[in-house]
Amino acid sequence: MAAAQDHLSKTTSSLKKRVHELSILNDISKVVSSVLNLERLLDVYIELVRSKIGIRNCCILLVDVETDELVVCASNGEDGKDLVGERTRMGLGIEGWVAENRIPVLVDDLARDSRFKDKGSAKYDAGTFICAPLVAKGELLGVIDLNRKSSGDKFSEGDLKLLITMTSQVSVAIDNARLYRLLQENSFRTVQALATTLEAKDRYTHGHSARVTDYSVRTAQRMKLPAEEVEKLRYAAQLHDVGKIGVDEAILRKPTDLTTEEWDAMQQHPVIGERIITPLDFLSETRPIIRHHHERWDGKGYPDGLRGEHISRLAQIMAVADAYDAMTSERPYRHARSHEDALREIKRCTGTQFAPDVTKEFVAAMREAQPALG
Ligand SMILES: [Fe+2]
Repeated sequence: MAAAQDHLSKTTSSLKKRVHELSILNDISKVVSSVLNLERLLDVYIELVRSKIGIRNCCILLVDVETDELVVCASNGEDGKDLVGERTRMGLGIEGWVAENRIPVLVDDLARDSRFKDKGSAKYDAGTFICAPLVAKGELLGVIDLNRKSSGDKFSEGDLKLLITMTSQVSVAIDNARLYRLLQENSFRTVQALATTLEAKDRYTHGHSARVTDYSVRTAQRMKLPAEEVEKLRYAAQLHDVGKIGVDEAILRKPTDLTTEEWDAMQQHPVIGERIITPLDFLSETRPIIRHHHERWDGKGYPDGLRGEHISRLAQIMAVADAYDAMTSERPYRHARSHEDALREIKRCTGTQFAPDVTKEFVAAMREAQPALG
């Protein structure tokens, strides 16, 4: 009877453990399959692993194919060490060994383990580790390294098995996130190529988007806008005039004044530009910037006649940068204005064409940059 009860309680405890493991896998699966941004995916994943399994330190290293090194791309630990960016050579330390051999390991005591030739390269000082390779479609992506359980216990074979199952889920997610990023970059380059091809056909606008991007980013950085906003602006500025593809070339290059109909057609380019990038989901937040780069602070701009703060801050910045580059570039019908003359004109149009606080920062950013701009 006692033996039967003992057996029952062991079975119950092992079943409970299995249910717990399955719930961890389920939670991780839900998260990793829904995140396509690589950095965010890694951060969310290691936080889940750390909290669910009860780990003091956890980090993910990915292979840098150019240098054949492992780079820490996400780290999370009670030690509070920020290890992101640290590099390890293949074959060195626990992570290097696991990457080179593609074999998961459980290390009870690093100091006594003879498998690892350079123990100093291990990411943490001491204790027990489990480390597993991340492999997708037969390709090594990197390794995940878990160090010390919060409970103080050593890692078990069961922990290692759970980690191996979890790595197969996250490896597929990392691979997807990388492919998605590649797809985004390719799509962006395609649209950018359209815009630059259009510019290159006309010596007067050659390099315009690159300069507008440079001026816009300098201004946004001076205004201390968050890095993600600056990135959005960088994308938008490179593509801001892509809609000119949809405007008749004879109108684009006409050296004399445009007729009313021609001017109406010209004013469609921000709308066409927005339409061109609409299928690209990752550029969704740049759409209003492109659409509104010709709006004016006093509401007399186009295509929507937006006024003041109804125009997004990023579109306000790009409007000034765009106008400055137009003034300082040669045109078939007039010479380029000097840097100082253009800045004077920008200041003169403050509060009518341009947002007052933006022009102030733009002028300061351009003065700062002038030696570099030449
Ligand atoms: Fe434009």
